[in-house]
Amino acid sequence: MMKKNIGPITAGFPTPVVLAGTTDAAGRPNLVTLAWVGVCCSEPPAIQISVRPDRYSHAAITERGAFSVCVPSKRHVDETDFCGIVSGRKYDKFALAGLTLEPGPELGLPLIAEFPLCFECRLVHTFTVGSHDLFVGQIVSCMAEESALDGRGRPESGKLDPLVFMPGDGYYGLSPRIAPGFGVGRRFLPGKGNDGDGRTS
Ligand SMILES: Cc1cc2nc3c(=O)[nH]c(=O)nc-3n(C[C@H](O)[C@H](O)[C@H](O)COP(=O)(O)O)c2cc1C
Repeated sequence: MMKKNIGPITAGFPTPVVLAGTTDAAGRPNLVTLAWVGVCCSEPPAIQISVRPDRYSHAAITERGAFSVCVPSKRHVDETDFCGIVSGRKYDKFALAGLTLEPGPELGLPLIAEFPLCFECRLVHTFTVGSHDLFVGQIVSCMAEESALDGRGRPESGKLDPLVFMPGDGYYGLSPRIAPGFGVGRRFLPGKGNDGDGRTS
């Protein structure tokens, strides 16, 4: 297979897409769509988001020292896109997108009642990377829609039905699970055979 160097670009790298909730100095809630995001630590549990300094949300995050992260389902694609094309400087995105504000239990941050999974994060690190500042938030609460949980009380992918973003392209959904994690790769272990996920070789 022949590869070609197509330059230092981000296109083609799948990312999550979330809405971060903030409050400004006057206490006004706002939402911003972000795709440069991800889980970045397990202990303590933490999420990183990257925000350009000219976004209205940027100052709100640094001033308040906290932000929320709400995970949309596929059915929220219009609301997700909308919150990424207008600014909270000018518009009340909650009202215009018909989203209901639910205050978070720990920090009172704006969460979205209609979205199945929302985190409250306390800002613990800020790194200037270049065009974007990277904020690391320690998760202090996770509010999950009960109907999106499995029997063990953990969020279930099929029920969350999350959006995936392809930079330079658009929004996609998840396809059905291909394999469980931390299992199928075991078949490459010397002497283990093809038994990683319970299948026999
Ligand atoms: C799919 C999508 C992903 C985006 N990802 C980011 C991002 O990761 N970081 C960022 O600073 N802006 C991102 N944006 C742009 C902001 O959401 C947009 O500039 C927004 O209007 C800023 O809102 P605010 O001024 O109310 O903070 C994204 C927009 C879209 C539609």
